[in-house]
Amino acid sequence: MKITTCVFDAYGTLFDVAAAARQAAEASDNPALRERWAELASHWRLKQLQYSWLRAISHAHTDFWEVTQNGLDWALEATGLQGDEALRQRLLDLYWELQAYPEVPAMLKALKAGGMQTAILSNGSPAMLDGAVKSAGLGDVLDDVLSVESVGIFKPDKRVYDLVGQRFGCDAREVLFVSSNGWDAAAAAGYGFATAWVNRAGEPVDRLPWVPQAILSDLTGIPAQAGL
Ligand code: LAC
Repeated sequence: MKITTCVFDAYGTLFDVAAAARQAAEASDNPALRERWAELASHWRLKQLQYSWLRAISHAHTDFWEVTQNGLDWALEATGLQGDEALRQRLLDLYWELQAYPEVPAMLKALKAGGMQTAILSNGSPAMLDGAVKSAGLGDVLDDVLSVESVGIFKPDKRVYDLVGQRFGCDAREVLFVSSNGWDAAAAAGYGFATAWVNRAGEPVDRLPWVPQAILSDLTGIPAQAGL
C-alpha cells in the first residue's frame, strides 16, 4: 500500500538524547563530567526507558518528564556525579532544547514537498515536545505532534500507535513509522505499520516477535523508503 503518512519517534530519532550530557561536559571544567558524560548519557537514557516500561506494565503512569528526571537521578548517582544541583538543573534544561540530528530538517522538508503527512508520535509530554520542536525549528515541517499523554500509557502499548489512525484517518499500512529504538520499531511493525529502524549505533536486531522492514544508518533514506 502507498505510504501517505510518515510518523517519527522523537527522542533518539529526531533529537539527539546524548546532546544534553555532551554539551554540559563541553562547557564544564569538572573533570569527572568531562570523562564520564557518555556513560552518564547512556545510563540516563536506559533508566528513562526502563522506568517508562515498568510504569506501563504496572499501571503506574506518570509523564515522561518525571521518568526523565528519575532516570537522570539514577544515572548521576551511578556515575558518582550526584549532589551538584547546578549540573542536574543544567542537564534538565538542555533536555528541553535537544539538538536535532543534522539531516532532520531537509528530510522532513523533502517529505512535505512530496505530499506526505508528517508527525511525531512520542512518549514525551506535550510541553517537552513543544520545547524540542520549537528549539529545532521543525514546526513548519510537521503536521502534528502526538503525545502518549492523551492515552496515559507509554509505548509500546497499542493505544499509543492507535493515535496515528485516529488523527490522520489512514490505514496502518499507509504509515511509515520511523524510530531509532529497536523495540519501538519492532512493536510498530507488529502493530501493522511499515517501519524503518534507524540504527545509528550498529546495534544487533532486538529479539522480539516482530522485525522492522527496513534498517537505515541515518534518516537521509526516509523519503526513498516512503516511496518518493
Ligand atoms: C519517544 C522515546 C521512546 O520519543 O524515544 O517516544
